[in-house]
Amino acid sequence: MLKNDQLDQWDRENFFHPSTHLAQHARGESPNRVIKTASGVFIEDRDGNKLLDAFAGLYCVNVGYGRQEIAEAIADQARELAYYHSYVGHGTEASITLAKMILDRAPANMSKVYFGLGGSDANETNVKLIWYYNNIQGRPEKKKIISRWRGYHGSGLVTGSLTGLELFHKKFDLPVEQVIHTEAPYYYRRANLDQSEEQFVAHCAAELEALIEREGADTIAAFIGEPVLGTGGIVPPPAGYWQAIQAVLKKHDILLVADEVVTGFGRLGSMFGSDHYGIEADIITIAKGLTSAYAPLSGSIVSDKVWKVLEQGTDENGPIGHGWTYSAHPIGAAAGVANLKLIDELNLVGNAGEVGAYLNATMAEALSGHAHVGEVRGEGMLCAVEFVKDKDSRTFFDAADKIGPQISAKLLEQDKVIARAMPQGDILGFAPPFCLSRAEADQVVAATLRAVNAVLG
Ligand SMILES: Cc1ncc(COP(=O)(O)O)c(C=O)c1O
Repeated sequence: MLKNDQLDQWDRENFFHPSTHLAQHARGESPNRVIKTASGVFIEDRDGNKLLDAFAGLYCVNVGYGRQEIAEAIADQARELAYYHSYVGHGTEASITLAKMILDRAPANMSKVYFGLGGSDANETNVKLIWYYNNIQGRPEKKKIISRWRGYHGSGLVTGSLTGLELFHKKFDLPVEQVIHTEAPYYYRRANLDQSEEQFVAHCAAELEALIEREGADTIAAFIGEPVLGTGGIVPPPAGYWQAIQAVLKKHDILLVADEVVTGFGRLGSMFGSDHYGIEADIITIAKGLTSAYAPLSGSIVSDKVWKVLEQGTDENGPIGHGWTYSAHPIGAAAGVANLKLIDELNLVGNAGEVGAYLNATMAEALSGHAHVGEVRGEGMLCAVEFVKDKDSRTFFDAADKIGPQISAKLLEQDKVIARAMPQGDILGFAPPFCLSRAEADQVVAATLRAVNAVLG
């Protein structure tokens, strides 16, 4: 196909990009990249540059690019039935089958799946269900949701509030008043450097309990957290964190939402992060890995405990007043069925665990000795390198120096490897597709070391 020479101009004149410096982009001061095709862990832009995508898009193309099985399933579904709604008991073979496949893989206490389109709308659904749940139980005051600083749960009104990152609140009048935040389980950035990991966990649990007591447990409905903090810095929890947090929540009758948009369907080397860390959630959020992003689809998996109250609610009040035109869209559902089958057939969860451990170990070996690398951390196919100005005193760089973005730009320029400069702190994040090979992991590590040396010496 002929290259459209006007594409750059059309892009800058017409396209409102998410999470982008709008003015710089419109003025042509920041690069744009038009992606044309992709296969395995590589994407290719229209100028013919082949890039190793070590962030799987936005940690979502878990099975890798170019999977014909999923493309065929989508095409077959579109030909047979492109759309029908799922209101008042309607469904399709794909959506019903996918709900069953999800529950077969989910923790045993889970009961039903509500389908949405993306992680943000799934978390909006969760908050509505939680408010409904407490209203049905005659507890209209029990409505606030606790999230963690540095948590990421979307960028809608309520979900942008749940997200605990400054950029997502600033100038948007967020967070809304029903959302409050507590300490992030981020041991490396603990305020008190003398604390052991165990003491820090006790501190996080005590902070949570103090917040609940200050606000009043009868005003707090739920706690939401990602099993591993994602966009906030790719931070696995310190040992015992989830056990300590769950004890506090149980004591105060507070629901737990596990946001598994990143961790669901294998990224940690376990089917769910909840299994991985012994989290007993009341609701689980899923999206990205459900279809490996071949089509937009998300879900809220609700437990028996929540479901029973929802049933009671509709017996008392009539049909649930919640639904999207595209809930359980057949094309998304067909992609989901094909994707979950492929994950099983190729043992991709196993590969995420094995090659992920290899990536983390080789990254740590190559980089932890560097004078400006404060920490290399990760779990499964998630890895992060955090940079510091001074290692001994753990002094961070000034945000204005943009060390993280400089390193990710260098990595791309020198070795055509994509890693993500995480939005808060100088942290380089990796979340490759699960089909990453050891040789590709070696390539990512070698390129990262070269980029770090080029920027920081
Ligand atoms: C843990 C988590 N929850 C929710 C979301 C929001 O999902 P979406 O961008 O599909 O709305 C994300 C997106 O990165 C996420 O990482």
